[in-house]
Amino acid sequence: MIADKVLSLEGLSKRFGSVVANDNVSLELYRGEILALLGENGAGKTTLMNMLFGHYLPDSGSVHVAGEKGALRPLALGHPQAALEAGIGMVHQHFTLAENLSAFDNILLGSEPLSRLRRDRSTGRAKIDQIMSDSGLRADLDIPVGRMSVGERQRVEILKALYRDVSILVLDEPTAVLTPQEADTLFENIGAMAKDGLSVIFISHKLREVLAFSHRIAVLRHGTKVGEIASADATERTIARMMVGAETPETKRESHEPGAPVLRLENVSVAGRSRRDSLSDADLTVRRHEILGVAGVSGNGQSALAGIISGLMPLSKGAMVIDNATINGHDPLTMIRAGVGRIPEDRHHDGIVGSMSVAENMVIERLDDPEIQTRGLLKRDAIQAHAEKLARDYDVRGPGVEANARLLSGGNIQKMILARVFERSPKLILANQPTRGLDMGAAAEVARRLLEARSRGAAIILISEDLDEILSLSDRIMVIHDGELVEADTRDRETLGLMMAGEAA
Ligand SMILES: Nc1ncnc2c1ncn2[C@@H]1O[C@H](COP(=O)(O)OP(=O)(O)OP(=O)(O)O)[C@@H](O)[C@H]1O
Ligand SMILES: [Mg+2]
Repeated sequence: MIADKVLSLEGLSKRFGSVVANDNVSLELYRGEILALLGENGAGKTTLMNMLFGHYLPDSGSVHVAGEKGALRPLALGHPQAALEAGIGMVHQHFTLAENLSAFDNILLGSEPLSRLRRDRSTGRAKIDQIMSDSGLRADLDIPVGRMSVGERQRVEILKALYRDVSILVLDEPTAVLTPQEADTLFENIGAMAKDGLSVIFISHKLREVLAFSHRIAVLRHGTKVGEIASADATERTIARMMVGAETPETKRESHEPGAPVLRLENVSVAGRSRRDSLSDADLTVRRHEILGVAGVSGNGQSALAGIISGLMPLSKGAMVIDNATINGHDPLTMIRAGVGRIPEDRHHDGIVGSMSVAENMVIERLDDPEIQTRGLLKRDAIQAHAEKLARDYDVRGPGVEANARLLSGGNIQKMILARVFERSPKLILANQPTRGLDMGAAAEVARRLLEARSRGAAIILISEDLDEILSLSDRIMVIHDGELVEADTRDRETLGLMMAGEAA
């Protein structure tokens, strides 16, 4: 039997000014198929899917989708509503939920008229319950999304798409914010839904899950499709080579004796809004030339730890000492002046001001610097030249330093933040999930820069839920669980995994 084709993209192209985001890309999808779309940061994956979903109007090309009787019919381009009606659902790379509304309202929002929304709450709830049990994706429907962890938000995003009865589901980096176990569960659920006929395109930088869970892989490079391969015939090496055209070098770690303590937390507690952003009686020391890895499943107090070190949250008890001086006052500027460089967890939300240019974002933490401004007037030329130099040094690609920062791809936003942090040679670096969502090349670049800072003498706190990353970069490892920080005297994956799950060894 010949498999049914459910979707066909033909010769799609899209330019943004001088950037060719997609060049004549064609792609097909079959019923029940799970297709992985791969490519480096900025390769054009999101743009392609946004054209499919009607968010962007292609410059040329067409799309056909299977109708009810299975025959392919042209899709009206540039209309999200038409895509939805054709059964195409998309979960975006960045969250789109309203934070102050409950998960339930978020799921219903936009698919039911408001008047019906009230009347149909109970049928809506029954439908979501059904979807939750079919898909295995669970979320607390009644709490505001703003209080949820990123993993929970991701599940709500997917539930919202499924609620619209889609037959083609597009997931743009669905596991970037999930733990390995959550990701595996998600893909097992997706696999089961695909067996029932759902067709799926997912974008990911995680080759392990791509190989384990997709049927077929399509690779984009610089906006063109450079190849397709059946997942069963692929290895990490072959797809890595397709993506970058070469192999990425291994990161080297020099050996260093740790130096003097840079940051000490003494018996610190933080009372957050909920348990997941609280910390109790934490003790921690990180020294010069040292990377302290903090492993944990997100939502276990990492945001409180990051919050106090970046000056965004107050301590409710205990002391924070940097270079033997107790820090009083908790605001970002105090911490920047004390020598802290911050790579935030949510780079879109906390890392950049999207409506400001790349160049402005690059100086955003040094607006009091006389090189940047005199008497409140920004020195435009200096800012521009400075940004162009950093963009070269850190390989920040995109529409140029004068463009709005939100137009950069995820990986390029991270490179921009790295440039901004590292150029100041901070003595303490807080790196919070620094490689989440990055392609292999960009992730290797982050690792290289962190190791370089360590060689220079910086103290680094690396918060990550990626155990491979923790193990390959850290000199010492602590585990954070339920607001408690514990020193791990082991590098054994399984033991660390158990500690992360709260089952002390
Ligand atoms: N609205 C826009 N205006 C200008 N340039 C854009 C816009 N959207 C995307 N681009 C540019 O188009 C290129 C492709 O971006 P896209 O977001 O599709 O990449 P991606 O493959 O999804 O990358 P990542 O893995 O980092 O998410 C990038 O150079 C990006 O800067
Ligand atoms: Mg993308």
